[in-house]
Amino acid sequence: MFCKKPVFSLNGISFDVKHNEIFGIIGKNGSGKTTMARILLKLIKPDCGTIFFNNHNLLELKGEKLRGFRKKIQGISQNHETALNPRMKIKESLKEVFLATGRKAFNEITDNKLEAMLNEVGLGKEHLNRFPAQLSGGQLQRINIARAIALRPELIIADEPTSNLDVSVQAQIIHLMLKIKKKTGMSFIFICHDRALISLICDRVAIFDEGRIIEIKSIRNTKKRSIDNAL
Ligand SMILES: Nc1ncnc2c1ncn2[C@@H]1O[C@H](COP(=O)(O)OP(=O)(O)OP(=O)(O)O)[C@@H](O)[C@H]1O
Ligand SMILES: [Mg+2]
Repeated sequence: MFCKKPVFSLNGISFDVKHNEIFGIIGKNGSGKTTMARILLKLIKPDCGTIFFNNHNLLELKGEKLRGFRKKIQGISQNHETALNPRMKIKESLKEVFLATGRKAFNEITDNKLEAMLNEVGLGKEHLNRFPAQLSGGQLQRINIARAIALRPELIIADEPTSNLDVSVQAQIIHLMLKIKKKTGMSFIFICHDRALISLICDRVAIFDEGRIIEIKSIRNTKKRSIDNAL
């Protein structure tokens, strides 16, 4: 018999992310992690609830205020291959981010600025004129990170940013994210399946299960402090 009972992907979720914190999210497949990330990025709308960001309820923002908010929260997804337009050169994909700051500012972006964006993520000007198909997975994810941090957001939501990469490249990308956090003071929501990695880099972790948070734990870890010092 056909059942019309609604199914909730998320229900009763409540957590806060502090300034300059890495807040981990872990949970089984289908537990609602990506749905939550998409709600925070305002890509989908929840049926109800509130999301406060710097004392503003994101779900009520419209127009100019909403555009301002979009610059402050950015996402990095696991799909590094589909995140970029395959027909655009890397320089065009990087420059595109600045459309959010207005046409005048966009027109003033120089190749030097784009090169500096690449340098910040460990790439160089030789990558500016390439197309996405001419870069490796790790390089593509670096470009996605460069785009995410370009407008200096206050919060980055990274949804399994390394899960489609080789183990050695995963470590490089994590290292890059930690360096960026240290340099800029951005906060991160880091969604990941790897408990060991969560324990290594996160300050706190929320455990998702069937659309709910079943526990939020602080992580106190001496290894983490030594990584911070080594960056
Ligand atoms: N657009 C949608 N319409 C209906 N159901 C959806 C939609 N997107 C996700 N879901 C459902 O919501 C639930 C949570 O999915 P979600 O992708 O958020 O899980 P996840 O924790 O990110 O899983 P994974 O670890 O596999 O990435 C799943 O049952 C999924 O099928
Ligand atoms: Mg997911």
